[in-house]
Amino acid sequence: MAQQDWQERTRQQMLHLQLPTDPRWVDVALMSLEDILVDHAYCEQKAATSCISLIINFHDFPEVEEVLTPVVAEEWGHFERVMEKLKARGFRLGAAQR
Ligand SMILES: [Fe+2]
Repeated sequence: MAQQDWQERTRQQMLHLQLPTDPRWVDVALMSLEDILVDHAYCEQKAATSCISLIINFHDFPEVEEVLTPVVAEEWGHFERVMEKLKARGFRLGAAQR
């Protein structure tokens, strides 16, 4: 029950999802966990590097740097965590999928 409450609060307050996640998603994800983790790592990398690019391209706007620098750190932290998950399972990052 507590787990279900936490999931519902997360769905409503943090993710603003309109519908609950289909529990069958877990089974599908487990069928290709390596692909999902690798894709996730690249998503985190893109989030961090996109913020860095915005900071550099809009260097005349200090507000951009102020807002996005913490986001770079946060997203890079996510990248590190996903890389730890990959490593723990004996997977490697591999090339980005296009
Ligand atoms: Fe992230």
